[in-house]
Amino acid sequence: MATRSEVKRIGVLTSGGDAPGMNAVIRAVTRTAVYHGISVLGIKRGYNGLIHGDVTELNPQAVNGLITRGGTVLYTARSPEFQTDEGIAKAVNTIKYLGIEGLVVAGGDGTFKGALRLSDCGVNVVGVPCTIDNDIGCSNYTIGFDTACNTAMDAIDKLRDTMQSHERCSIVEVMGRNAGHLALYVGIAVGATAMLVPELPVNFEKDVAEKIRRGRIRGRTHHLIIVAEGVAGTSELGEKIKESTGIDSRITILGHIQRGGSPTTRDRVTASRMGEMAVKTLIEGRRNRVIIARQGEMDDIDMVEALEMKKGLQPSMLEAAYVLTQN
Ligand code: F6P
Repeated sequence: MATRSEVKRIGVLTSGGDAPGMNAVIRAVTRTAVYHGISVLGIKRGYNGLIHGDVTELNPQAVNGLITRGGTVLYTARSPEFQTDEGIAKAVNTIKYLGIEGLVVAGGDGTFKGALRLSDCGVNVVGVPCTIDNDIGCSNYTIGFDTACNTAMDAIDKLRDTMQSHERCSIVEVMGRNAGHLALYVGIAVGATAMLVPELPVNFEKDVAEKIRRGRIRGRTHHLIIVAEGVAGTSELGEKIKESTGIDSRITILGHIQRGGSPTTRDRVTASRMGEMAVKTLIEGRRNRVIIARQGEMDDIDMVEALEMKKGLQPSMLEAAYVLTQN
């Protein structure tokens, strides 16, 4: 049964790089809020929408069909104006003017840092971790990561066909900003020869050339190196491989294609659950929280604490990647 909430109006926004599943968060927030008798304003273009009062009313009809759609219907932005005191003051004014009593922000670390500035001004905010980079310290999983991995995997499987035909080495750069989660997962999923991640130093001879040689001795005629975008020197890698092994390479930068597409089951379900939890957190009056995934369960933690947490690559994943690329 729906309970009538003390909170009467909330806002939802998406900010930073978009991630597949953000629309599912917007849908879940809207449906949960309406279930509890709360009206919802969708704030457009991230924090810019708060600064300029660019909002739209959301209801179950408005979010129909959103669960299948990539991107974000509220648009997203990285707002330089929101970094200024004047920008924050305008955003807080909009929140007061519109009577927004709680705000759900979907995005990455940058989005949560913005949320904290609002919370310092008395706004009650809940964060939902969305980024294909999976680099938010407080949560084992971030919405969008699984879809991005699958998109990259599909593209690389196609690349493999042509690389096999030409007996080439394929160097594929995947996104991830300063983190190697995407590269590591995708590399394991496509059976790569090597994965290079920013968290570990790269020894070209040992990590690339020798692996290619070992593969060739076993009769392998094509090779696949996955490089995280945070690793320097991708453009020279092909020449180094040619010099050291005689094999021709082609570099493919997958780029923003990794951020698009219909979310996978995992992203749809995680987004739906986190969106629902975010509204419940606001209703229960727990202030300034981030919804997190930990050990297969969802929880909410303090936003300041959340922003202090760091996440490295999982040691067991690194070990598996190491073993699986040795022969
Ligand atoms: O944070 C998500 C992400 O896609 C990173 O992987 C990438 O480094 C960055 O955003 C790209 O940002 P932009 O869309 O501004 O080019």
